[in-house]
Formats: sequence, structure tokens, C-alpha cells
Amino acid sequence: MTEQGVLKVAMPKGRIYKQASKLFRQAGLPIPEDFDDSRRLIIPVPEANMEFIMAKPVDVPTYVEYGVADIGIVGKDVLMEENKDVYELLDLGIAKCRMSVIGLPGWKPVIHPRVATKYPNVASQYFRERGQQVEVIKLNGSIELAPLIGLADRIVDMVETGQTLRENGLVEMETMFAVTSRLIANRVSYRMQNNAIQGLCDRLGRMIAAVQN
Ligand code: PRP
Repeated sequence: MTEQGVLKVAMPKGRIYKQASKLFRQAGLPIPEDFDDSRRLIIPVPEANMEFIMAKPVDVPTYVEYGVADIGIVGKDVLMEENKDVYELLDLGIAKCRMSVIGLPGWKPVIHPRVATKYPNVASQYFRERGQQVEVIKLNGSIELAPLIGLADRIVDMVETGQTLRENGLVEMETMFAVTSRLIANRVSYRMQNNAIQGLCDRLGRMIAAVQN
């Protein structure tokens, strides 16, 4: 757990950051504008008693589980893949996309197909629950390449606008689950900094409800 008083927030760099920082600002939390294009990794915001830690999205649950960040923002995809011991407090409703099984059109089932993905745990569990034997191949990006160049029969990946699939002649075969970003908390921090964390959670929750209505 971090020093009481200063709330440490693990923020994901990249796609989610823009939407997450907008939500925080709408909820009255002063993330400095010059933070957006900065390469700094730790940004103290003393007027809000907060410190933002800029993390690679996949590492956010690790920082929160170990308590070096009290709370964090992370996609449900990463949360399911990493399966860390953290509280999931709030669905922020941002960075909406879906996890899908994807392949080439006209794909015919084969025995023991190969499935390429950045999410080996999610993919393994999905096919195991359906009694399908697959070989999961872990890749770290550009997953759509795998069926195009013959590395895998199918892929499990995120679809947001569908542009990547369209431009590469791939089709969504099954939608596995919807994905949005979540607010997570370290279990000890949640008890020790309950006022600050629950207060922030309530503010964000009210803001999200107001936007939705
Ligand atoms: C993600 C995902 C898809 C793409 C989907 O990749 O893995 O490739 O975005 O978005 P779309 O439906 O709007 O086209 P990302 O851009 O994070 O890069 P990566 O290929 O390196 O994982």
C-alpha cells in the first residue's frame, strides 16, 4: 500500500488514456493538459492529492495487485487475461470494443486448429469450455497477420471499429464478450484509503450515469 493521503493511480498509456483522462476531468479531477503529450511516467497532482503512474496497459493490474498503485484503469480484456487479485470497482463504459474469434471467410473446421492471440488464457478457457481442442499461439501484436500468412487457423482478438478486419479480408466468426475499461483497486488500499477511493468511484459513477442519461 502506498503512503496514506496521496492516491496513486495507474493510468494506461495509449488508446484508453485519452478517454480515461477526459472522464477524470469531467469528474473534476485536474489532470494537467500538458500531461497528455508528455513522456513523463510519474505525474504528481498535489492539489488533488493524487499521483498518476503511466503504465503499459497490460501491467496496470500488476501495479495495483502489488499496491504500488492504489487504483488503476484497465480494459476488461486485460483484467480477464491477467486474473490478478484486485477489486473491480466500476465499469467506466469507455474504450468499448469486443473480444472475438476471427478467421478467413470460408474457413472450414480442422482437427486441433491453431489459434493465435495476445490473450492465451482467455482463448484457452473459451475453447476449453466449449470442448474444443485448440493449440494456442501467443503473439504480441498484429495478430491479424497470423491467418493471412498461415501461422494460425483462427485468431482471438479485440475488434473496435472493424477496420483492421475489413482491410485484411478477415471476418468475425464469434463474439466472445463485450469489453470496456474498469476502475480497479488494491485490496488493502481499498480498506486503508476507503474515503478517497470510494469518493472518486462515486464521482466517476455519477459522471458516467449523467453522460448515459
Ligand atoms: C488492436 C486489436 C486489433 C485492432 C482492432 O490492435 O488487436 O488489431 O486494435 O481495432 P479496429 O477494429 O478498430 O481496427 P492495436 O492497435 O492495439 O495494435 P496491435 O496489433 O499491436 O495489438
